Parts: sequence; structure tokens; C-alpha cells
Amino acid sequence: MSLLTILHYPDPRLRTQAKPVSRFGEDLRKFADDMLETMYDAPGIGLAATQVNVHERIIVIDVSENRDEPYIFVNPELEVSGDEIDTEEGCLSVPGIYEPVTRFERVAVTARDPLGEPLHVEAEGLLSVCIQHECDHLEGKLFVDYLSSLKRNRIRKKLVKQQKQRA
Ligand code: NI
Repeated sequence: MSLLTILHYPDPRLRTQAKPVSRFGEDLRKFADDMLETMYDAPGIGLAATQVNVHERIIVIDVSENRDEPYIFVNPELEVSGDEIDTEEGCLSVPGIYEPVTRFERVAVTARDPLGEPLHVEAEGLLSVCIQHECDHLEGKLFVDYLSSLKRNRIRKKLVKQQKQRA
């Protein structure tokens, strides 16, 4: 397994619309395992392929305390329901920033695993929020897009400054 490089906001590649996966199998399984390893190492609770500059519809998630309940969703389709809930969100592509975002309480996901087997998962709470957040990445959307433009510009400036200092 190997660690992948995570793109940081405002990198324009994070705005790419991901394409559906058509080839399932061992190579995809290895890539998903690399994504999980990258997510655990960061550490984070979710990662979309978009964030590692691969523009295919794959997300990985683990919201468990012991970091031993990984989900891999390929070509996920979401059906949201329930009340709207506000949760403080962060993102590995927007390091150090946490802001409340409104999402739906429940989500039903239909997807495939890396070998092409169909999956169906119903989630609520943190897992539901995380699934909605990661699927946004596949559309080129980030959680900062839900904030006011004033706030978003402030975050952009802060991150650009940090990236320059690191370079
Ligand atoms: Ni994210």
C-alpha cells in the first residue's frame, strides 16, 4: 500500500466532476486500499478520489472510534431524507478549518464495491453527513461552498498563505 497526495483548497483540480467507474477488480481494490490508508494516516474520516487527483467516482469512509469499520463506495447514488441537521465539518483538503454545514439527517446509498458487487447502506448521523460530504467532492463541490462568500474568501486567503509559507 502507499500514501497518496491530498490536494488542498483552492486547487482547481478539486473542482473536477468525477466520471463513473467502469472497470472493477483487483487494481481498483488496491487503489481503494491506498485511499483508506491515506485517510487513516491524515487522519480523517472520509476521502474522495477527487481529493487525490483521481477523477472517478470512489469514496472511502470510516467514522468508527476504533478505525476498523471502513466503507468503500464506488459509483455511489444517494437518496437523502429526514430533517436537516447542522454539523461542524472539516475536510482533509481544507486543513484546520471547521464550520457548521446543513445536511440531511438520513441517507440511503446504493453503490458497488471495488470488485463490482452491489452494496446498499442506510445511514444517519455522522456517517450520513460524511457520505453526503464525500459525494459532493465527486461533483467538484467543497463544504466551504455552503458558507458565505465572505467566510469562504477568508478561508481561501488563509490557506493560500499557509501553502506559500510551506513552499
Ligand atoms: Ni472533504
